[in-house]
Amino acid sequence: MTGGQPVPDPLCALDEIAEGAARGFDPLGQGRDTMFAVRKGGRVYGWRNFCPHYGHEQMAWTKDAFLGHDGARIVCGAHGAAYEIESRVCVAGPCVGKALVAVPLEIRAGPVFIIGPYSRRARKLA
Ligand code: FES
Repeated sequence: MTGGQPVPDPLCALDEIAEGAARGFDPLGQGRDTMFAVRKGGRVYGWRNFCPHYGHEQMAWTKDAFLGHDGARIVCGAHGAAYEIESRVCVAGPCVGKALVAVPLEIRAGPVFIIGPYSRRARKLA
C-alpha cells in the first residue's frame, strides 16, 4: 500500500472481534467496509476488502461474512476464492497464488490500531 493518510484512532477494541471471527471496517468513513480483520490465535490480521480476482472491492456477501463456513479460510463471496488467514494467499478458486493486500495492525494495550498510512482505495494489483 502506498500513499494514504494516518488513522490515529483505534480501529476497535480487541474484544469487538471474537476469536476465530472476521469483521469489516470503514476507517476513512467511505460508507462501506474498505478493510476487514480476522482474530485468530491471539493475533489480529488485517486486509483490504479487495479480491485480486477482478479487483472486486466487496468480498463479503453480507456484513462481516469474510470467512468460510468453518472459519478456517477467508472466502470471497463473489466467486469463492479461498485465502489462508496467516499467509493471505489464495489457495483455491479462480486466483490461486494471488494475495490479499495487507493492512498492518497492532494491538496496543487492548485497542487495535492501523500502523501505517491508509488510502481510500486499494492499490490495483498487476
Ligand atoms: S472477485 Fe473474488 S473470487 Fe472473483
